[in-house]
Amino acid sequence: MTHTAAPIDRDALIARYERTRARTRELFALVSDDAYYRAPIPTRHPLVFYDGHLPAFSFNTLVKKALGGASIDGDLERLFARGIDPAEVAPRQKQSAAAVWPERRLVRQFTDEADRRVLAALAGADLDQPGHPYLERAEAVHAILEHEAMHQETLLYMWHRLPLEQKRAPAEYRPAPSGRAPVPQWVEIPAGDVTLGARRGSIPFGWDNEFGAATEHVPPFSIERYDVTNSAYLEFVDAGGYEEPRWWGPEDWSWRERERLHHPLFWQRTDGEWYWRGMFERFPLPASWPVYVSQAEAAAYACWRDARLPTEAEFQRAAFTTPRGEARQFPWGSASPTQEHGVFDFASWDPEPVGGHPAGQSAWGVEDLVGNGWEWTSTVFAPFAGFRAMASYPEYSADFFDGQHVVMKGASPATSRELLRPTFRNWFRPRYPFVYAAFRCARSA
Ligand code: AVJ
Ligand code: FE
Repeated sequence: MTHTAAPIDRDALIARYERTRARTRELFALVSDDAYYRAPIPTRHPLVFYDGHLPAFSFNTLVKKALGGASIDGDLERLFARGIDPAEVAPRQKQSAAAVWPERRLVRQFTDEADRRVLAALAGADLDQPGHPYLERAEAVHAILEHEAMHQETLLYMWHRLPLEQKRAPAEYRPAPSGRAPVPQWVEIPAGDVTLGARRGSIPFGWDNEFGAATEHVPPFSIERYDVTNSAYLEFVDAGGYEEPRWWGPEDWSWRERERLHHPLFWQRTDGEWYWRGMFERFPLPASWPVYVSQAEAAAYACWRDARLPTEAEFQRAAFTTPRGEARQFPWGSASPTQEHGVFDFASWDPEPVGGHPAGQSAWGVEDLVGNGWEWTSTVFAPFAGFRAMASYPEYSADFFDGQHVVMKGASPATSRELLRPTFRNWFRPRYPFVYAAFRCARSA
């Protein structure tokens, strides 16, 4: 069935843009002024870049590129145009930041003007033009809204790395609950088909890597009911897993040695005790939270347990199919996502205990597939058959089909609800340890 494009609702789009911008401003308000020119993740740009990048991308994409509007400030539009996922080994940028990046006041002037022009376009321009390269089904409008929502997660995992003194918790902050970790359990999933990706035109919007629809046969496998918890991962650390090359892929092992890693980045050890470095405070290691690690560390743990990471197709089957062979919009069915169903849409600043949202379990009884941490898969990020780079942002995926990135599925606490669709695909380098990424093990039957 072809989805009939609904007429655009300008008021809804304007409200969504304003809401998204307001959330970005709130996130920037959490960090101190001296953090503004810092780069808490050495291979990414400093905070100032993202302050400019979000409205610059929206303005460049919708107003200039799609609608042919005039420039505000060409230099700033170029400076803030793009900044994603730099190579893992990059020269640490020791630039005296202020010399390169503009003053905060200037950034603000530019972003205010960009916002005004984007809002004017949303209010009056012809946004949905059949046959138009950038505006077919209002592609550029969806792209700018989802782009900013995605980057709010980038901001949060960058903020996570800032020293605690450079952040202030919002008034409504409450630490996430802890508790005992459940005993790991396995769920068996029989052989069956699963469809990855969508047919063009069958969903209101998807990024280019979500098209077309590819049906795959998935042999029988088992998968863990819960994400691997800190307490389960601690057994691996205690067993000397970080000192034993046999559990690690060769490149992963060289990376571990080079970086001298002995435990996950989110953990700290003081006087023989383990802690979790939360967004606003440090916790004694919460046993029941999913461990956040790079794919390299996840795969080493799985190997130690005589298991492996699930493929993208296995994840999809566990999350979005039923024993009767139907496809679902969400693991729990078709009900709109709420906080009952999982930890996403900024519901928490840190993870929550695994298995805490049974209303969100999949038809197979697998918990937390959407929310509480992205889930690493073993699948190398690659296009589905019929891929076509999107005109409004042709580099979005294509630049990453290089065999150096792997697919993550699901969602984290910092993933906007707008991105919770079964076809949405996230990807990072396997040795990128900064994201809110969890995992669970799988085994072939
Ligand atoms: C899809 C999350 C991997 O942050 O590198 C933002 C999204 N692309 N701006 C990233 C993205 C361009 C991208 N991820
Ligand atoms: Fe971006």
